Amino acid sequence: MTTAGNSLEPKHLRRRIIHPLPVRAAHWINAFAIVCMVMSGWQIYNASPLFAFTFPKWATLGGWLGGAIAWHLAAMWLLAINGLIYLGYGFMSGHFRRHFLPLHARDLLRDLKDALTFRLAHQAGIYNTVQRLMYVIVLLLGVLVVASGLSIWKPVQLDSLVDLFGGYDVARRVHFIAMAGIVAFVAVHLALVLIVPSTLLPMVTGRAPQQKSHRESQA
Ligand code: HEM
Repeated sequence: MTTAGNSLEPKHLRRRIIHPLPVRAAHWINAFAIVCMVMSGWQIYNASPLFAFTFPKWATLGGWLGGAIAWHLAAMWLLAINGLIYLGYGFMSGHFRRHFLPLHARDLLRDLKDALTFRLAHQAGIYNTVQRLMYVIVLLLGVLVVASGLSIWKPVQLDSLVDLFGGYDVARRVHFIAMAGIVAFVAVHLALVLIVPSTLLPMVTGRAPQQKSHRESQA
């Protein structure tokens, strides 16, 4: 969904929309909801740890179990409603098809190699194959974390969903693993933003400088 900038602007200042408003709004609401969900989730986990560790107090939200559950459920509605709007927009407008696909193994290997040697070029408005794969994976993890979360929240009403996971204990582990995958995604995602900080402002304003055409850059 790329539109030309204001034609009255001087040519070298012309900027085009690379992130449409629905994507930006959904992205930042989602980022806020995910932070609330993860931090309150860690507080809930600390009340009955699955593994031999707990999360530090400073990284948790809610103060105590009851407070954390209230935060977790409130942020869940925000995440679920915002997520559904984003998925609906992404599929219906063709945003996912245009920006997250295609995903070819050959391109992925090439981009991964370039990324690991810090040679990966970034073009405003075009996601490289590593980003595309990461975005598709985090969408799937989002669906998994919501489905497993629903099944451990309402195990009686949603018993078929619990059965699909292979029982309550498995669903709880799946919920934890999906959360860990999302946290790992966010860590790599933020590292990529730090490596290419020029991607941040367009995700806020939507606009990026017009890329010169081949002919213009030759002139
Ligand atoms: C404060 C935290 C965050 C910052 C600073 C941030 C920043 C960004 C930036 C700059 C982009 C555009 C990248 C580019 O143009 O190459 C982007 C895209 C994206 N981010 Fe984030 N992000 C944050 C949190 C998150 C979280 C928590 C998630 C999901 C768990 C997420 C998922 C995505 C997705 C799916 C896209 C692609 C959006 C689309 O085109 O539909 N981000 N982010």
